[in-house]
Amino acid sequence: LDLATALDLLPKVELHCHVEGTMRPGTVIELAHRGGLALPTENLDELYSYGSLDEFLSIFWLVQSTLAGRDDWARLGYESVLDAAAHGRVYAEMFFTPARHLAGGQRLGDVVAGLAEGIAAAEAQTGSKAMLIADIDRAFGPAAGLDMVTELGELRRAGAPGIERVLGVGMDSTELGVDPVSFTEAYRAAAAAGFRLTGHQGENSPPSAIAAVVDVLGAERVDHGLSLVDDPELVRRFAAERIPLTVCPNSNIRIANAFPALADHPYPAMRAAGLLATVNTDDPAMTDLDLGYEYTSVAEAFGYTFDDMVTIALDGVEATWLDPDAKRALR
Ligand code: ADE
Ligand code: ZN
Repeated sequence: LDLATALDLLPKVELHCHVEGTMRPGTVIELAHRGGLALPTENLDELYSYGSLDEFLSIFWLVQSTLAGRDDWARLGYESVLDAAAHGRVYAEMFFTPARHLAGGQRLGDVVAGLAEGIAAAEAQTGSKAMLIADIDRAFGPAAGLDMVTELGELRRAGAPGIERVLGVGMDSTELGVDPVSFTEAYRAAAAAGFRLTGHQGENSPPSAIAAVVDVLGAERVDHGLSLVDDPELVRRFAAERIPLTVCPNSNIRIANAFPALADHPYPAMRAAGLLATVNTDDPAMTDLDLGYEYTSVAEAFGYTFDDMVTIALDGVEATWLDPDAKRALR
């Protein structure tokens, strides 16, 4: 067995993956046609090349806007889990970011029910499990974030279909000119409604913003957390407290353009500093990635052995929001 095959087959969890960013190219084109949505180009190799996070986000929003209702979300959830299962993913906590769909009149209950239905069908077929994290889209502002969280809490209290899949609340989208502290009320409401908390930060914002997400918003994990390495004191604290970072090394090259090549990524420095830094794909279909390749490229770029990658995979299990028995079952 060569390393790439072994790492593709290795049972892995994933904690940083946007379900919309897993949409198959064929599905994007089919749904865009059906909705009369003009793509700037149907050559997806061309469409899917980005100069910055914000440039990526404009294409991500286009892909998101092809999702018109519950059945589309169900198809997306189904295909997403099938595709990840083919690369050894056994469990995921996966983001969905419904702000623009809610603004366009879709019901949060339909989005959740659709995703949950599609995921359940793929789980039954593959054994690969996925739970959900409802992300606030920072571009829509704090009030929209609080509205989404409030509605999520109502769905939970009502026992709405599929809501048991939603374990937590996070936030994503642009970091430019956005103070994470402005989402404090939404995070408080999410915690009060019983949701776990995470948040994207430090993809292109300083370590002080990462600290705020943990200390002010109460996040248990940080998604990306890349700039943490610029603050050695904060690195020591995150390492001591085992605060998980859901790192997406190849995404940081292909989306954020943070480094010229994977070899320049601080991932090995993060691991060497004792950080609980997991490996994830972010938006695999929009960056031509899969979790097997993500593990393989990290191993090859940084000289990690198969055993090193097993340790990283086990750290992923530790960082999940599963209960201790469910974690043991994955080890
Ligand atoms: N939405 C989808 N992918 C994202 C990323 N890498 N950063 C912020 N928002 C996102
Ligand atoms: Zn992300």
